[in-house]
Amino acid sequence: MDMQSTAASQAGTPAGFQGTLTDKLKEQFDAGLLSGQELRPDFTIAQPVHRYTESDHAVWRKLYERQASMLRGRVCDEFLQGLSTLGMGKDRVPDFEQLNETLMHATGWQVVAVPGLVPDHVFFEHLANRRFPASWWMRKPEQLDYLQEPDCFHDVFGHVPLLINPVFADYMEAYGKGGLKAASLNALDMLARLYWYTVEFGLIRTDAGLRIYGAGILSSQGESLYSLDSASPNRIGFDVRRIMRTRYRIDTFQKTYFVIDSFEQLFDATRPDFAPLYESLRALPTLGAGDVAEGDLVLNAGTREGWSDSDDV
Ligand SMILES: [Fe+2]
Repeated sequence: MDMQSTAASQAGTPAGFQGTLTDKLKEQFDAGLLSGQELRPDFTIAQPVHRYTESDHAVWRKLYERQASMLRGRVCDEFLQGLSTLGMGKDRVPDFEQLNETLMHATGWQVVAVPGLVPDHVFFEHLANRRFPASWWMRKPEQLDYLQEPDCFHDVFGHVPLLINPVFADYMEAYGKGGLKAASLNALDMLARLYWYTVEFGLIRTDAGLRIYGAGILSSQGESLYSLDSASPNRIGFDVRRIMRTRYRIDTFQKTYFVIDSFEQLFDATRPDFAPLYESLRALPTLGAGDVAEGDLVLNAGTREGWSDSDDV
């Protein structure tokens, strides 16, 4: 299918979304891949399954095969269980409606298609209502190893399997509710660090050894190896106060990974009201992505080899 051929009649950015559009959304509007009629006020669209090309499916297949075989013995069992229960196949980009039949039944979650990154409050509102916003589009064949914005492979392969785990599912909902609150408390930077170091780049300790559960790691071939095998990064026991003070990397592999003992530990950490925590943390300086701080439960102190000096976020 020629994706450009649908372009002409639908181009143009709808007025209601002016000022809230990322470059990725603008690009899709301009290319006519998305029309104002399709984009709902909550930034979701019906997954345009007819717009996937054979190349999109081939990219999905390649990434899926590469990650699925490499992740055995590296990723937590709950992820593999989710992948298999959902019946997420390797051959084609999954149809979200099909995934949702199983997912809704298991934990009441559903995957909703979005054109790309959505504004924070929209994202939190979806999570708080057990909807995971997933980019519908696939990266290009030349972007297998690096991508600036999350695509369908990252969002669906990386994030959705764990949503079938009841405890992790509850954590994600609690995170969404916490996000809506953090916005009103001007504490989004602190809460974002928690998402980054758990949902995206978390490791978990199991009887069989350290395992990956963070989507940012497990959708990346390089970081799936680096996070577990490299001597460079720190691996530090999970501590919500510590994490909320810690800046992170968006341009390189992480300098520090935080390790949970169980998903219960993660969920329990989000039970208390964060408002007093934000207040007390505001008085403290932030920590660099590679810092080791007093009181850390250090599982591995990194050798710092290969670390770049550019700024942490
Ligand atoms: Fe992600």
